[in-house]
Amino acid sequence: MNLKMRKKVFKTAPLPFQGQKRRFAGGYALALSELSSKQEIKVIVDLFGGSGLLAHIAKSVVPEAKVIYNDYDNYSQRLHNIDKTNRLLADIRSILIDEPKDVKVDGKAKSKILDRVQLEDKQGYVDYITLSASLLFSAKYAVDFNGFSNETFYNRIKASDYDFSPNEYLAGLDVVCYHYQELYNKYKDVPGVLFVVDPPYLSTDTSTYHSDKYWKLRDYLDVLNVLIDTNYIFFTSNKSSLVELCEWLDDNKKFCNPFARSVLNTQNVTLNKDAKYTDMMLYRFLKE
Ligand SMILES: C[S@@+](CC[C@H](N)C(=O)[O-])C[C@H]1O[C@@H](n2cnc3c(N)ncnc32)[C@H](O)[C@@H]1O
Repeated sequence: MNLKMRKKVFKTAPLPFQGQKRRFAGGYALALSELSSKQEIKVIVDLFGGSGLLAHIAKSVVPEAKVIYNDYDNYSQRLHNIDKTNRLLADIRSILIDEPKDVKVDGKAKSKILDRVQLEDKQGYVDYITLSASLLFSAKYAVDFNGFSNETFYNRIKASDYDFSPNEYLAGLDVVCYHYQELYNKYKDVPGVLFVVDPPYLSTDTSTYHSDKYWKLRDYLDVLNVLIDTNYIFFTSNKSSLVELCEWLDDNKKFCNPFARSVLNTQNVTLNKDAKYTDMMLYRFLKE
């Protein structure tokens, strides 16, 4: 890996971010290195930037390229407010001084924490996602005071401050905020462009993302348009079966929608408070 430009290459995002690609840090750097040895990469556009980790690594591996980090979630604001977050966490740490680690926080301590957070909420800046990673059950995240105060607290707070420099992490990146389609349109015809494409997972919880939009199959399939005739690095999971679907479509080129002009009838099924789905019946008679 070419590490010329920076002293430190982050292999994980400096602050918690759901869906960050830290497990791919090594493989992604190798893929970039391989691509850039084959042809000149002039611009790298991280369309779904999230924590910016992939843009950050891209700048380290291909320092001569312009690297665009699409910060749709305003993650960089969280980074720039790290001093406030560290101060808030330090105060919470002292409230939790007698509370055992990884255990449910007692009611009195919880209300002291909430008073402190509410004060900060009124006067300063609260990074609820980092607070969630410090006080909520693993993988539970709140995005505002109400959501946060309704959760059970566990003492999962880090023993020391978050220690990083936002400027070092963001060094050399062009930080922008666009709907991915708009950003793609801006760069699609630029020579030497490489798109990094890591969309939200299909049908999973995206409540911590700025858009808070449940990504349906159609949204997910729309993203495929940015892969046509472009250089890309794309991320998905086997849960979406997307690669399998595309292979099947390729094998069945004459395929067209068999449900066209059919009538849809639905039945809602409730299994419990959290699990609901809709059964569907579709019917059609071809004209004689
Ligand atoms: C799987 S995450 C990307 C994670 C990122 N690669 C990382 O390593 O941190 C998907 C991101 O796409 C963002 N997103 C959702 N809708 C978007 C849209 N219409 N345009 C651009 N980004 C969007 C989400 O907010 C989220 O940050």
